[in-house]
Amino acid sequence: MARMEQDSTPYLDALVEYADRDPGRFHVPGHKGGPGADPALRAALGDRALQLDIPAGISGIDVAPDPANAPFQLAQRLTADAWGAKRSWFLVNGGSGGNHAICLALAHTGERVVVQRNVHSSIVDGLVLSGLRPRFVSPEVDPELGVAHCVTPEALAETLDAEPHTVAAMIVSPTYFGAVADVAALVEVAHARGVPLVVDEAWGSHLHFSSALPTAALECGADVVLSSIHKIVGSITQSAIVHLGHGEDRVDERVLDRAVTLVESTSPNGLLTASLDAARRQAAVHGEELLAETVASLAELRERIRMIGGLDVLDERIVGRSGVHAYDPLRLVVDVRGVGATGHRVARLMWESDDINLELFSENVVVAVFGIGEHAAETGGRLVSALERACVRIGEEEEEPLPPFAEPPPWGPTELSPREAFLASQEVVAFDEAEGRIAAESLAAYPPGVPNVLPGERLTRPTLDYIADSVAHGGLVRGASDRTLKTVRVVAQ
Ligand SMILES: Cc1ncc(COP(=O)(O)O)c(C=O)c1O
Repeated sequence: MARMEQDSTPYLDALVEYADRDPGRFHVPGHKGGPGADPALRAALGDRALQLDIPAGISGIDVAPDPANAPFQLAQRLTADAWGAKRSWFLVNGGSGGNHAICLALAHTGERVVVQRNVHSSIVDGLVLSGLRPRFVSPEVDPELGVAHCVTPEALAETLDAEPHTVAAMIVSPTYFGAVADVAALVEVAHARGVPLVVDEAWGSHLHFSSALPTAALECGADVVLSSIHKIVGSITQSAIVHLGHGEDRVDERVLDRAVTLVESTSPNGLLTASLDAARRQAAVHGEELLAETVASLAELRERIRMIGGLDVLDERIVGRSGVHAYDPLRLVVDVRGVGATGHRVARLMWESDDINLELFSENVVVAVFGIGEHAAETGGRLVSALERACVRIGEEEEEPLPPFAEPPPWGPTELSPREAFLASQEVVAFDEAEGRIAAESLAAYPPGVPNVLPGERLTRPTLDYIADSVAHGGLVRGASDRTLKTVRVVAQ
Protein backbone atom coordinates (compact mmCIF):
# COMPACT_ATOMS: atom_id res chain seq x y z
CA MET A 1 0.00 0.00 0.00
CA ALA A 2 1.23 3.46 -0.82
CA ARG A 3 3.25 5.26 1.83
CA MET A 4 0.64 8.03 1.84
CA GLU A 5 -2.04 5.62 2.97
CA GLN A 6 0.28 4.26 5.63
CA ASP A 7 0.80 7.84 6.79
CA SER A 8 -2.70 7.99 8.19
CA THR A 9 -4.45 6.70 11.29
CA PRO A 10 -8.10 6.23 10.24
CA TYR A 11 -9.26 4.55 13.41
CA LEU A 12 -7.49 6.88 15.84
CA ASP A 13 -8.80 9.82 13.80
CA ALA A 14 -12.35 8.51 14.03
CA LEU A 15 -12.11 8.29 17.83
CA VAL A 16 -10.70 11.82 18.02
CA GLU A 17 -13.43 13.14 15.74
CA TYR A 18 -16.12 11.54 17.91
CA ALA A 19 -14.63 12.89 21.14
CA ASP A 20 -14.21 16.37 19.65
CA ARG A 21 -17.78 16.74 18.50
CA ASP A 22 -19.07 16.11 22.05
CA PRO A 23 -21.81 13.65 21.11
CA GLY A 24 -24.66 12.42 23.28
CA ARG A 25 -23.00 9.46 24.99
CA PHE A 26 -25.98 7.30 25.88
CA HIS A 27 -23.88 4.16 25.83
CA VAL A 28 -21.19 2.50 27.90
CA PRO A 29 -18.74 3.11 29.54
CA GLY A 30 -20.46 4.60 32.55
CA HIS A 31 -17.82 7.25 33.14
CA LYS A 32 -19.27 8.96 30.04
CA GLY A 33 -15.96 10.31 28.85
CA GLY A 34 -14.91 11.59 32.26
CA PRO A 35 -17.73 12.96 34.44
CA GLY A 36 -18.59 9.60 35.97
CA ALA A 37 -15.03 8.65 36.79
CA ASP A 38 -13.39 9.01 40.16
CA PRO A 39 -11.54 12.36 40.40
CA ALA A 40 -8.26 10.55 41.09
CA LEU A 41 -8.57 8.67 37.81
CA ARG A 42 -9.52 11.86 35.96
CA ALA A 43 -6.52 13.63 37.39
CA ALA A 44 -4.17 10.73 36.64
CA LEU A 45 -5.27 10.01 33.08
CA GLY A 46 -6.63 13.38 32.10
CA ASP A 47 -10.13 13.73 30.69
CA ARG A 48 -8.85 13.39 27.16
CA ALA A 49 -8.03 9.71 27.63
CA LEU A 50 -11.50 9.14 29.10
CA GLN A 51 -13.18 11.01 26.24
CA LEU A 52 -11.37 8.70 23.82
CA ASP A 53 -12.49 5.60 25.69
CA ILE A 54 -15.19 4.86 23.13
CA PRO A 55 -16.79 1.43 22.86
CA ALA A 56 -17.42 -0.77 19.83
CA GLY A 57 -20.60 -0.39 17.77
CA ILE A 58 -20.37 3.34 17.06
CA SER A 59 -21.32 4.68 13.67
CA GLY A 60 -18.38 6.19 11.84
CA ILE A 61 -15.84 4.27 13.92
CA ASP A 62 -16.39 0.54 13.49
CA VAL A 63 -19.88 0.76 11.98
CA ALA A 64 -20.40 2.11 8.45
CA PRO A 65 -22.86 1.64 5.57
CA ASP A 66 -20.16 -0.50 3.97
CA PRO A 67 -18.84 -2.37 7.03
CA ALA A 68 -15.61 -3.33 5.26
CA ASN A 69 -14.74 0.34 4.99
CA ALA A 70 -15.39 1.40 8.56
CA PRO A 71 -12.26 3.09 9.98
CA PHE A 72 -11.64 0.11 12.29
CA GLN A 73 -11.55 -2.35 9.39
CA LEU A 74 -9.49 0.04 7.30
CA ALA A 75 -6.94 0.27 10.11
CA GLN A 76 -6.66 -3.52 10.24
CA ARG A 77 -6.17 -3.65 6.46
CA LEU A 78 -3.43 -1.02 6.63
CA THR A 79 -1.84 -3.15 9.32
CA ALA A 80 -1.89 -6.27 7.15
CA ASP A 81 -0.29 -4.29 4.31
CA ALA A 82 2.32 -2.74 6.58
CA TRP A 83 3.51 -6.11 7.87
CA GLY A 84 3.00 -7.96 4.58
CA ALA A 85 0.19 -10.17 5.85
CA LYS A 86 -2.84 -11.47 4.02
CA ARG A 87 -4.95 -10.42 6.98
CA SER A 88 -4.26 -9.02 10.45
CA TRP A 89 -6.43 -8.90 13.55
CA PHE A 90 -6.09 -6.37 16.38
CA LEU A 91 -5.97 -8.08 19.77
CA VAL A 92 -6.86 -6.56 23.12
CA ASN A 93 -5.76 -9.41 25.34
CA GLY A 94 -2.13 -9.26 24.39
CA GLY A 95 -0.11 -11.76 22.49
CA SER A 96 -1.47 -14.25 25.01
CA GLY A 97 -5.00 -13.93 23.62
CA GLY A 98 -3.55 -14.38 20.13
CA ASN A 99 -1.86 -17.62 21.12
CA HIS A 100 -5.11 -18.90 22.61
CA ALA A 101 -6.94 -18.07 19.36
CA ILE A 102 -4.26 -19.68 17.19
CA CYS A 103 -4.44 -22.95 19.17
CA LEU A 104 -8.25 -22.95 18.94
CA ALA A 105 -8.06 -22.41 15.19
CA LEU A 106 -5.48 -25.19 14.69
CA ALA A 107 -7.61 -27.66 16.63
CA HIS A 108 -10.13 -27.53 13.78
CA THR A 109 -7.90 -29.63 11.58
CA GLY A 110 -6.86 -32.35 14.00
CA GLU A 111 -5.53 -32.87 17.47
CA ARG A 112 -1.76 -33.33 17.24
CA VAL A 113 0.64 -30.42 17.10
CA VAL A 114 4.41 -30.05 17.31
CA VAL A 115 5.39 -27.34 19.77
CA GLN A 116 8.70 -25.84 20.81
CA ARG A 117 9.21 -27.04 24.37
CA ASN A 118 9.84 -23.59 25.89
CA VAL A 119 6.94 -21.74 24.29
CA HIS A 120 5.35 -18.95 26.27
CA SER A 121 2.88 -20.12 28.92
CA SER A 122 0.05 -18.65 26.80
CA ILE A 123 0.62 -21.42 24.23
CA VAL A 124 0.49 -24.04 26.96
CA ASP A 125 -2.78 -22.41 28.04
CA GLY A 126 -3.87 -22.47 24.40
CA LEU A 127 -3.26 -26.22 24.41
CA VAL A 128 -5.47 -26.48 27.49
CA LEU A 129 -8.24 -24.46 25.86
CA SER A 130 -8.07 -26.24 22.51
CA GLY A 131 -7.41 -29.82 23.60
CA LEU A 132 -4.48 -30.08 21.18
CA ARG A 133 -2.04 -32.89 22.00
CA PRO A 134 1.51 -31.61 21.78
CA ARG A 135 4.70 -33.38 20.81
CA PHE A 136 7.55 -31.19 21.92
CA VAL A 137 10.66 -30.18 20.06
CA SER A 138 13.57 -28.98 22.11
CA PRO A 139 15.23 -25.61 21.54
CA GLU A 140 19.01 -25.51 21.49
CA VAL A 141 20.45 -24.70 24.90
CA ASP A 142 23.58 -22.60 25.10
CA PRO A 143 25.76 -24.53 27.54
CA GLU A 144 27.93 -21.51 28.19
CA LEU A 145 25.25 -18.90 28.88
CA GLY A 146 22.63 -21.29 30.25
CA VAL A 147 19.89 -19.79 28.04
CA ALA A 148 17.65 -21.47 25.49
CA HIS A 149 18.00 -20.37 21.86
CA CYS A 150 15.78 -21.41 18.94
CA VAL A 151 14.69 -24.70 17.38
CA THR A 152 16.84 -25.90 14.46
CA PRO A 153 15.32 -27.08 11.16
CA GLU A 154 16.89 -30.52 11.77
CA ALA A 155 15.22 -30.87 15.17
CA LEU A 156 11.87 -29.79 13.73
CA ALA A 157 12.15 -32.22 10.83
CA GLU A 158 12.92 -35.09 13.19
CA THR A 159 10.00 -34.29 15.47
CA LEU A 160 7.53 -33.79 12.63
CA ASP A 161 8.62 -37.08 11.08
CA ALA A 162 7.92 -38.81 14.39
CA GLU A 163 4.42 -37.24 14.52
CA PRO A 164 2.87 -37.77 11.08
CA HIS A 165 -0.66 -36.60 11.96
CA THR A 166 0.28 -33.19 13.21
CA VAL A 167 -1.76 -30.09 12.26
CA ALA A 168 0.99 -27.48 12.66
CA ALA A 169 4.40 -26.65 14.06
CA MET A 170 4.65 -23.83 16.60
CA ILE A 171 7.95 -22.13 17.31
CA VAL A 172 9.25 -18.97 19.01
CA SER A 173 11.52 -16.40 17.35
CA PRO A 174 13.14 -14.10 18.44
CA THR A 175 13.78 -15.31 21.97
CA TYR A 176 13.87 -13.10 25.04
CA PHE A 177 17.62 -12.94 24.51
CA GLY A 178 17.49 -11.83 20.86
CA ALA A 179 18.31 -15.13 19.12
CA VAL A 180 16.45 -15.42 15.81
CA ALA A 181 15.57 -18.79 14.28
CA ASP A 182 16.20 -19.85 10.71
CA VAL A 183 12.51 -19.30 9.99
CA ALA A 184 12.84 -19.73 6.20
CA ALA A 185 14.35 -23.20 6.69
CA LEU A 186 11.77 -24.07 9.35
CA VAL A 187 9.02 -23.02 6.95
CA GLU A 188 10.50 -25.31 4.32
CA VAL A 189 10.62 -28.22 6.76
CA ALA A 190 7.01 -27.71 7.85
CA HIS A 191 5.61 -27.13 4.35
CA ALA A 192 7.47 -30.15 2.98
CA ARG A 193 5.45 -32.17 5.49
CA GLY A 194 2.21 -30.43 4.61
CA VAL A 195 1.78 -28.42 7.81
CA PRO A 196 1.71 -24.69 8.52
CA LEU A 197 4.42 -23.00 10.56
CA VAL A 198 3.17 -20.76 13.35
CA VAL A 199 5.75 -18.31 14.66
CA ASP A 200 5.38 -16.63 18.02
CA GLU A 201 7.14 -13.42 17.06
CA ALA A 202 5.93 -11.63 20.17
CA TRP A 203 9.40 -10.07 20.51
CA GLY A 204 9.97 -9.28 16.85
CA SER A 205 7.19 -6.99 15.62
CA HIS A 206 9.81 -4.37 14.66
CA LEU A 207 11.95 -6.65 12.44
CA HIS A 208 9.94 -6.03 9.29
CA PHE A 209 10.62 -2.29 9.37
CA SER A 210 14.40 -2.23 9.22
CA SER A 211 16.73 -3.54 6.55
CA ALA A 212 19.44 -3.70 9.24
CA LEU A 213 17.56 -6.34 11.24
CA PRO A 214 16.92 -10.06 10.71
CA THR A 215 14.18 -10.96 8.24
CA ALA A 216 10.71 -11.08 9.81
CA ALA A 217 8.80 -14.37 9.98
CA LEU A 218 6.06 -13.39 7.48
CA GLU A 219 8.69 -12.55 4.87
CA CYS A 220 10.21 -15.99 5.47
CA GLY A 221 6.87 -17.58 4.57
CA ALA A 222 5.41 -18.29 8.02
CA ASP A 223 1.69 -19.08 7.89
CA VAL A 224 0.55 -17.46 11.13
CA VAL A 225 2.53 -14.94 13.16
CA LEU A 226 1.84 -13.63 16.62
CA SER A 227 3.11 -10.13 17.18
CA SER A 228 3.08 -8.50 20.60
CA ILE A 229 3.23 -4.95 19.31
CA HIS A 230 3.29 -3.34 22.74
CA LYS A 231 6.61 -4.95 23.61
CA ILE A 232 8.84 -2.93 21.27
CA VAL A 233 6.78 -1.08 18.63
CA GLY A 234 5.12 1.40 20.94
CA SER A 235 1.44 0.54 21.30
CA ILE A 236 -0.26 0.39 24.70
CA THR A 237 0.31 -2.59 26.97
CA GLN A 238 -1.98 -5.52 26.13
CA SER A 239 -2.41 -4.57 22.48
CA ALA A 240 -1.11 -7.10 19.97
CA ILE A 241 -1.75 -8.47 16.50
CA VAL A 242 -2.14 -11.86 14.90
CA HIS A 243 -1.21 -12.06 11.22
CA LEU A 244 -2.17 -14.61 8.60
CA GLY A 245 0.53 -15.10 5.97
CA HIS A 246 0.10 -14.85 2.22
CA GLY A 247 1.01 -18.44 1.43
CA GLU A 248 -1.31 -21.30 0.60
CA ASP A 249 -4.36 -21.43 2.85
CA ARG A 250 -2.87 -23.84 5.35
CA VAL A 251 -4.84 -22.13 8.14
CA ASP A 252 -8.46 -21.23 7.40
CA GLU A 253 -8.94 -17.46 7.58
CA ARG A 254 -12.58 -17.74 8.68
CA VAL A 255 -11.75 -20.20 11.43
CA LEU A 256 -8.97 -17.96 12.72
CA ASP A 257 -11.35 -14.99 12.56
CA ARG A 258 -13.91 -16.84 14.69
CA ALA A 259 -11.22 -17.99 17.13
CA VAL A 260 -10.08 -14.39 17.59
CA THR A 261 -13.62 -13.25 18.40
CA LEU A 262 -14.09 -16.23 20.71
CA VAL A 263 -11.24 -15.19 23.00
CA GLU A 264 -11.94 -11.48 22.69
CA SER A 265 -14.06 -9.23 24.87
CA THR A 266 -17.24 -7.93 23.25
CA SER A 267 -16.07 -4.56 24.55
CA PRO A 268 -12.56 -4.16 23.12
CA ASN A 269 -10.80 -1.11 24.49
CA GLY A 270 -10.57 1.57 21.79
CA LEU A 271 -7.50 3.14 23.35
CA LEU A 272 -5.65 -0.14 22.87
CA THR A 273 -6.73 -0.68 19.29
CA ALA A 274 -6.17 2.99 18.39
CA SER A 275 -2.66 2.66 19.78
CA LEU A 276 -2.12 -0.22 17.33
CA ASP A 277 -3.30 1.98 14.47
CA ALA A 278 -0.82 4.67 15.53
CA ALA A 279 2.05 2.23 16.18
CA ARG A 280 1.52 0.79 12.70
CA ARG A 281 1.74 4.25 11.14
CA GLN A 282 4.90 5.09 13.05
CA ALA A 283 6.56 1.78 12.16
CA ALA A 284 5.50 1.86 8.50
CA VAL A 285 6.42 5.47 7.86
CA HIS A 286 9.35 6.11 10.20
CA GLY A 287 10.42 2.60 11.29
CA GLU A 288 13.57 2.44 9.19
CA GLU A 289 15.03 5.66 10.57
CA LEU A 290 13.77 5.15 14.14
CA LEU A 291 15.20 1.65 14.29
CA ALA A 292 18.49 2.81 12.78
CA GLU A 293 18.72 5.31 15.63
CA THR A 294 17.95 2.67 18.28
CA VAL A 295 20.34 0.11 16.81
CA ALA A 296 23.21 2.61 16.50
CA SER A 297 22.76 3.98 19.99
CA LEU A 298 22.51 0.47 21.42
CA ALA A 299 25.83 -0.40 19.80
CA GLU A 300 27.34 2.60 21.61
CA LEU A 301 25.76 1.50 24.87
CA ARG A 302 27.11 -2.03 24.47
CA GLU A 303 30.63 -0.64 24.15
CA ARG A 304 30.23 1.40 27.33
CA ILE A 305 29.01 -1.62 29.26
CA ARG A 306 31.89 -3.75 28.01
CA MET A 307 34.28 -1.23 29.59
CA ILE A 308 32.96 -2.24 33.03
CA GLY A 309 35.22 -4.95 34.39
CA GLY A 310 33.65 -8.42 34.30
CA LEU A 311 30.71 -7.52 32.04
CA ASP A 312 30.08 -8.51 28.46
CA VAL A 313 27.04 -7.89 26.26
CA LEU A 314 25.47 -10.29 23.79
CA ASP A 315 25.43 -9.27 20.15
CA GLU A 316 25.65 -10.80 16.70
CA ARG A 317 28.78 -12.68 17.77
CA ILE A 318 26.43 -15.42 19.00
CA VAL A 319 25.13 -15.96 15.46
CA GLY A 320 26.24 -19.39 14.33
CA ARG A 321 25.84 -21.01 17.73
CA SER A 322 23.38 -23.84 17.57
CA GLY A 323 19.86 -22.42 17.31
CA VAL A 324 21.00 -18.86 16.52
CA HIS A 325 20.51 -17.98 12.87
CA ALA A 326 20.50 -14.20 13.35
CA TYR A 327 20.50 -11.68 16.18
CA ASP A 328 18.02 -8.96 17.10
CA PRO A 329 19.96 -6.20 18.87
CA LEU A 330 16.94 -4.54 20.51
CA ARG A 331 17.45 -6.53 23.66
CA LEU A 332 20.45 -5.62 25.75
CA VAL A 333 21.58 -8.85 27.34
CA VAL A 334 24.39 -8.27 29.82
CA ASP A 335 26.50 -11.32 30.59
CA VAL A 336 27.43 -10.98 34.28
CA ARG A 337 29.36 -14.23 34.69
CA GLY A 338 32.64 -12.37 35.04
CA VAL A 339 31.65 -10.30 38.09
CA GLY A 340 31.28 -13.16 40.58
CA ALA A 341 27.55 -12.81 41.22
CA THR A 342 24.35 -14.03 39.60
CA GLY A 343 22.09 -11.94 37.41
CA HIS A 344 19.57 -12.04 40.25
CA ARG A 345 22.04 -10.32 42.58
CA VAL A 346 23.10 -7.74 39.99
CA ALA A 347 19.46 -6.90 39.18
CA ARG A 348 18.63 -6.58 42.88
CA LEU A 349 21.53 -4.19 43.50
CA MET A 350 20.61 -2.07 40.47
CA TRP A 351 17.09 -1.76 41.76
CA GLU A 352 18.16 -0.92 45.31
CA SER A 353 20.70 1.72 44.35
CA ASP A 354 19.20 3.27 41.23
CA ASP A 355 15.57 2.18 40.90
CA ILE A 356 16.46 0.30 37.72
CA ASN A 357 13.73 -2.16 36.75
CA LEU A 358 14.78 -4.75 34.23
CA GLU A 359 12.71 -6.88 31.88
CA LEU A 360 14.35 -10.12 32.93
CA PHE A 361 17.27 -11.53 34.85
CA SER A 362 18.53 -15.03 35.28
CA GLU A 363 21.59 -16.84 36.50
CA ASN A 364 24.09 -15.48 34.02
CA VAL A 365 22.46 -12.49 32.39
CA VAL A 366 20.33 -9.42 33.00
CA VAL A 367 18.13 -8.19 30.15
CA ALA A 368 17.07 -4.61 29.37
CA VAL A 369 14.53 -3.96 26.63
CA PHE A 370 14.64 -0.95 24.31
CA GLY A 371 11.85 0.34 22.15
CA ILE A 372 11.59 1.62 18.60
CA GLY A 373 13.10 5.10 18.31
CA GLU A 374 14.56 5.06 21.79
CA HIS A 375 17.75 7.09 22.14
CA ALA A 376 19.34 4.20 23.95
CA ALA A 377 22.70 5.89 24.46
CA GLU A 378 20.93 8.64 26.45
CA THR A 379 18.23 6.65 28.25
CA GLY A 380 20.74 3.85 28.89
CA GLY A 381 23.12 6.18 30.76
CA ARG A 382 21.50 5.41 34.09
CA LEU A 383 21.59 1.71 33.26
CA VAL A 384 25.36 1.91 32.79
CA SER A 385 25.83 3.87 36.05
CA ALA A 386 23.70 1.36 37.94
CA LEU A 387 25.68 -1.54 36.49
CA GLU A 388 28.91 0.17 37.53
CA ARG A 389 27.65 0.73 41.07
CA ALA A 390 26.37 -2.86 41.32
CA CYS A 391 29.76 -4.20 40.19
CA VAL A 392 31.60 -2.08 42.76
CA ARG A 393 29.36 -3.41 45.54
CA ILE A 394 29.78 -6.96 44.35
CA GLY A 395 33.56 -6.46 44.37
CA GLU A 396 33.28 -5.64 48.08
CA GLU A 397 31.24 -8.75 48.83
CA GLU A 398 32.13 -12.38 49.06
CA GLU A 399 31.88 -14.14 45.71
CA GLU A 400 28.60 -15.95 45.09
CA PRO A 401 29.08 -19.56 44.08
CA LEU A 402 27.46 -19.98 40.67
CA PRO A 403 25.28 -23.07 40.38
CA PRO A 404 26.69 -25.77 38.13
CA PHE A 405 24.71 -26.26 34.95
CA ALA A 406 23.74 -29.92 34.59
CA GLU A 407 22.04 -31.55 31.62
CA PRO A 408 18.35 -32.05 32.43
CA PRO A 409 16.99 -35.61 32.24
CA PRO A 410 14.54 -36.53 29.43
CA TRP A 411 10.96 -35.35 29.87
CA GLY A 412 8.63 -37.85 31.52
CA PRO A 413 6.11 -39.76 29.39
CA THR A 414 2.97 -37.90 28.32
CA GLU A 415 -0.12 -39.57 29.82
CA LEU A 416 -2.79 -36.90 29.31
CA SER A 417 -3.20 -33.87 27.07
CA PRO A 418 -2.70 -30.51 28.83
CA ARG A 419 -6.48 -30.04 28.67
CA GLU A 420 -7.23 -33.44 30.22
CA ALA A 421 -4.72 -32.73 33.00
CA PHE A 422 -6.26 -29.30 33.59
CA LEU A 423 -9.83 -30.59 33.77
CA ALA A 424 -9.04 -33.70 35.84
CA SER A 425 -9.57 -33.55 39.58
CA GLN A 426 -6.32 -32.55 41.16
CA GLU A 427 -4.57 -32.79 44.48
CA VAL A 428 -1.50 -31.39 46.11
CA VAL A 429 1.18 -33.87 47.20
CA ALA A 430 4.58 -33.55 48.82
CA PHE A 431 7.22 -32.85 46.15
CA ASP A 432 9.38 -35.71 47.41
CA GLU A 433 6.51 -38.14 47.06
CA ALA A 434 5.35 -37.10 43.60
CA GLU A 435 7.30 -39.69 41.60
CA GLY A 436 5.00 -41.59 39.25
CA ARG A 437 2.16 -39.05 39.54
CA ILE A 438 0.81 -37.08 36.56
CA ALA A 439 1.64 -33.38 36.74
CA ALA A 440 -1.15 -30.83 36.66
CA GLU A 441 1.21 -27.87 36.35
CA SER A 442 4.41 -26.83 34.59
CA LEU A 443 7.81 -26.91 36.26
CA ALA A 444 10.68 -25.18 34.50
CA ALA A 445 14.02 -24.91 36.28
CA TYR A 446 16.02 -21.73 35.46
CA PRO A 447 18.57 -21.84 34.00
CA PRO A 448 17.80 -22.54 31.22
CA GLY A 449 14.01 -22.38 31.71
CA VAL A 450 13.01 -25.09 29.27
CA PRO A 451 10.09 -26.80 31.04
CA ASN A 452 11.12 -30.06 32.69
CA VAL A 453 7.47 -30.91 33.27
CA LEU A 454 4.27 -29.88 31.51
CA PRO A 455 0.69 -30.69 32.52
CA GLY A 456 -0.18 -34.28 31.65
CA GLU A 457 3.36 -35.65 31.96
CA ARG A 458 4.38 -38.31 34.46
CA LEU A 459 6.84 -37.11 37.09
CA THR A 460 9.98 -39.22 37.09
CA ARG A 461 12.60 -39.54 39.84
CA PRO A 462 15.43 -38.06 37.72
CA THR A 463 13.29 -35.02 36.84
CA LEU A 464 12.24 -34.42 40.45
CA ASP A 465 15.86 -34.77 41.59
CA TYR A 466 17.07 -32.41 38.85
CA ILE A 467 14.55 -29.73 39.84
CA ALA A 468 15.28 -30.14 43.57
CA ASP A 469 19.01 -29.91 42.85
CA SER A 470 18.56 -26.80 40.75
CA VAL A 471 16.61 -25.11 43.57
CA ALA A 472 19.19 -26.21 46.17
CA HIS A 473 21.84 -24.46 44.08
CA GLY A 474 19.89 -21.20 44.00
CA GLY A 475 18.01 -21.82 40.74
CA LEU A 476 14.39 -20.79 40.22
CA VAL A 477 11.42 -22.88 39.17
CA ARG A 478 8.74 -21.22 37.07
CA GLY A 479 5.19 -22.52 36.80
CA ALA A 480 5.00 -24.13 40.22
CA SER A 481 1.98 -23.09 42.29
CA ASP A 482 4.06 -23.68 45.44
CA ARG A 483 7.09 -21.45 44.94
CA THR A 484 8.87 -23.18 47.85
CA LEU A 485 8.47 -26.45 45.95
CA LYS A 486 7.55 -28.39 49.07
CA THR A 487 4.46 -29.55 47.23
CA VAL A 488 3.34 -30.05 43.67
CA ARG A 489 -0.11 -30.14 42.04
CA VAL A 490 -0.91 -33.46 40.39
CA VAL A 491 -3.86 -35.27 38.87
CA ALA A 492 -5.84 -37.10 41.56
CA GLN A 493 -5.57 -40.89 41.46
C1 LIG B 1 7.26 -15.43 23.42
C2 LIG B 1 6.05 -14.77 23.99
N1 LIG B 1 4.85 -15.03 23.44
C3 LIG B 1 3.71 -14.48 23.90
C4 LIG B 1 3.75 -13.62 24.97
C5 LIG B 1 2.47 -13.04 25.47
O1 LIG B 1 2.37 -11.72 25.09
P1 LIG B 1 1.49 -10.67 25.91
O2 LIG B 1 2.26 -10.33 27.14
O3 LIG B 1 1.35 -9.55 24.96
O4 LIG B 1 0.20 -11.31 26.25
C6 LIG B 1 4.97 -13.31 25.58
C7 LIG B 1 5.02 -12.40 26.72
O5 LIG B 1 6.01 -12.13 27.30
C8 LIG B 1 6.15 -13.91 25.08
O6 LIG B 1 7.34 -13.66 25.61
